[in-house]
Amino acid sequence: MTEIRTLGLLGTGVIGAGWAARALHYGVDVVAYDPNPKMEDWLRGTVDAAMQPLSKLTMAPLPKRGSLRFTTDAAEMIAAADFIQESIPENLDLKQKVLRELSATIPPDVIIASSTSGFMPSDLQDGITAPDRLVIGHPFNPVYLLPLCEIVGGRETSDTALRIADGFYEHIGMHCLHVKKEIPGHISDRLQEALWREILHIVDRDAASTGDIDDAICYGPGLRWAIMGTNMIFTLAGGQNGMRHFFEQFGPALELPWTDLKAPPLTEELIDKMVAGVEAQQGTRSIRDWERIRDDCLVAIQQVLRTHDQGAGRTLKAIEQRLYAEVGATAAADEIDIAQPLRLHEGDITPDVIDYNNHLTEWGFFKLISDASDKLFRFIGIDQDYRESGRTFFTVETHIGFLGEGKLGDAFHVTTQILDVDAKRLRFMHTLVNSATGDPMAEIEQMLLHVDTAAGKAAPIDAAVKAKLDAVAAAHAKLPRPASAGRGIGAPRA
Ligand SMILES: NC(=O)c1ccc[n+]([C@@H]2O[C@H](COP(=O)([O-])OP(=O)(O)OC[C@H]3O[C@@H](n4cnc5c(N)ncnc54)[C@H](O)[C@@H]3O)[C@@H](O)[C@H]2O)c1
Repeated sequence: MTEIRTLGLLGTGVIGAGWAARALHYGVDVVAYDPNPKMEDWLRGTVDAAMQPLSKLTMAPLPKRGSLRFTTDAAEMIAAADFIQESIPENLDLKQKVLRELSATIPPDVIIASSTSGFMPSDLQDGITAPDRLVIGHPFNPVYLLPLCEIVGGRETSDTALRIADGFYEHIGMHCLHVKKEIPGHISDRLQEALWREILHIVDRDAASTGDIDDAICYGPGLRWAIMGTNMIFTLAGGQNGMRHFFEQFGPALELPWTDLKAPPLTEELIDKMVAGVEAQQGTRSIRDWERIRDDCLVAIQQVLRTHDQGAGRTLKAIEQRLYAEVGATAAADEIDIAQPLRLHEGDITPDVIDYNNHLTEWGFFKLISDASDKLFRFIGIDQDYRESGRTFFTVETHIGFLGEGKLGDAFHVTTQILDVDAKRLRFMHTLVNSATGDPMAEIEQMLLHVDTAAGKAAPIDAAVKAKLDAVAAAHAKLPRPASAGRGIGAPRA
């Protein structure tokens, strides 16, 4: 992928703020532009609220969080951005005007992607500078949790632009769906709008309340949609003869018809009925409360789907595999000085590892040091292939000393000192440090046994891995031994 370090946002409403949260989470810096200065509070509030569910989505080690800057000056955003995502209101004249003006000042190799729900890219390309770099990257709300991104090219969009957009969205954990031909509403919004039209008809005819209609989705078809789409669902509904039988049975209903397709006139009365209906559904809960419920469930659903390798769970699995592989890439970097305790892992304390007092939980300490151990393994050459060959390290002993508290948002790093290595055993000391103060939060000493998982017993460490460990151990032997370190491998008990 062409490396996108800084995402520029044009518009920071519901969708712009969602893009910010997703990009920051996957380590991309964000410079967000909105002419309305009041949007800064909204943006920061959304990003903070998104941290909670996002931090629960995966246990895979994440890159260091990106940094966020808000500006009311478009030029400041443009100067910093490697890729620009436009999320201003869905109004064709406004989008065309803004894109024409700003594209003249945006370097021609910087992709401009539009979040538009329904306009076609060729309409947005009209009159802009370097139209070949304009694509549509249409996300779904909440952008930070829903992986779908519809990518659409217009008449003048280059393959390079499509490829860069695809690479970037995939990098920030999305599932890219390339729409073969530009059509109004792309794919998903055509489907959603068809449903919405029917909802309006049902309410207009007083056949059901907005709540009943939502129940008709949530208790039935909606439950299936996360697993498989309507085409596969109807195939299963056709029994052993699948879709062909489904057509025989339900094809004639298409002529009845069960649906009106064209929206009813949007009278004030209908709008009032819709608004009153959803206000009753909303009850005393605020929009933020409902967002929290939605987000927690979206996290849980994706985790279940991952175990079944279905739908959005596949995207989650793919990003986790990449994150684990990237751990290897960073850990293997040449700049790591083995003459010092290895500094392989760093980050910020996230909401998933804190307790009700906003402090790092006991198991949170273990999570952070497990991630550090993972990075150590990658550093010495233990990767997915190594594990798949049936060899791995197994922790047989852990000693932990809690030295200080960690709080939500604190920057931390872990240093690792190798204490002993022999043919089958490895002993090291992790120190979890508050990066701002330099104070240690915990010291964790571990002894690991190298095992052959198929044989279920201890086995010699691979020669190349052992050589790397020996080199680090020899360098670390010159360092002062941590005062809290226990007896060495093979040393007699005191
Ligand atoms: N809301 C959704 O569910 C959803 C889903 C997918 C895509 N989209 C698309 O995303 C886009 C944004 O939708 P939204 O729901 O975030 O709208 P919104 O009204 O919440 O936010 C729009 C933002 O654009 C800002 N803005 C207005 N003029 C601007 C300008 N000239 N330059 C920069 N910023 C400007 C506004 O101040 C506001 O903060 C639309 O094209 C919409 O179709 C929306």
